[in-house]
Amino acid sequence: MQPARTLFATALLAMMTSAYAAAPTVLITGANRGIGLELARQYTARGWQVIATARHPAQATELAALAAGHPAVAIEALDVTDAAAVAALAAKYRGRPIDVLINNAGITGPRGQALGSFDYDAYRQVLDTNAIGPLRMAEAFLPNVAAGAGGKIVTLSSSEASIALVDSPRAYWYRSSKAAVNMLMRNLAFDVRARGVAVALVNPGPVDTDMMKGVRMPLQKPADAVAKVIGIIDRLTPQETGRFWDYQGGEVPW
Ligand SMILES: NC(=O)c1ccc[n+]([C@@H]2O[C@H](COP(=O)([O-])OP(=O)(O)OC[C@H]3O[C@@H](n4cnc5c(N)ncnc54)[C@H](OP(=O)(O)O)[C@@H]3O)[C@@H](O)[C@H]2O)c1
Repeated sequence: MQPARTLFATALLAMMTSAYAAAPTVLITGANRGIGLELARQYTARGWQVIATARHPAQATELAALAAGHPAVAIEALDVTDAAAVAALAAKYRGRPIDVLINNAGITGPRGQALGSFDYDAYRQVLDTNAIGPLRMAEAFLPNVAAGAGGKIVTLSSSEASIALVDSPRAYWYRSSKAAVNMLMRNLAFDVRARGVAVALVNPGPVDTDMMKGVRMPLQKPADAVAKVIGIIDRLTPQETGRFWDYQGGEVPW
């Protein structure tokens, strides 16, 4: 007969193993800083399994510190513009259900773009990162997201994507890349609805990250903004797929 202490330890291990196996999984792109890092932190705090991607994991010191204290955090190298890298990561995780895929990685492109001196090579990079990257990720990881119950594909968009709200010229590259990803995700929503996958675009509002350095306007703390974004993700349903949600509640006009 096993001593009581061994039985207790065995039961505890079984409980912990089943809790770990039952924990939902989120995959986040660009998780080494800004909103992505905060998403990784908050999902980790909720007990989720987090696949956190970064272009340069060796430099992702804050993400590494998070992973060091939490075995449920896996760091993966990924540039979302690298089709082969996306395919390789999807192959690595083949068969693993992913509850939420968050396309967070994004860039503004070079500032100061103005009519008469546009840098079209920079535009290609912005489109590749902000629009094609999220679609490439969604396509590659669709089997994972569709494998779980109520899978979700969420892309961080921006109010700058809203064509209806534009009344002055600026941020040509950023605005149009986010408008493009909105259309791509709206299409995707109807393509994958029958598989039970909900697709959403979320405007996190102005957040105090590197992206907003030098921008003079009230900014939310990443922790506050991300709590709102996660609240929106929690409430998503396949019935409401393909919408463009705002951090303040409601929807952003297309
Ligand atoms: N901050 C805001 O006020 C705000 C408002 C509306 C929407 N958003 C959106 O929210 C998302 C996150 O923004 P943020 O403020 O956290 O920006 P951020 O602080 O500039 O961080 C951007 C993240 O994206 C990563 N990234 C850039 N290009 C990538 C690529 N090709 N492949 C993989 N990762 C790449 C960066 O990695 P590296 O460290 O390697 O560069 C970094 O982790 C973006 O999509 C942004 O457009 C932000």
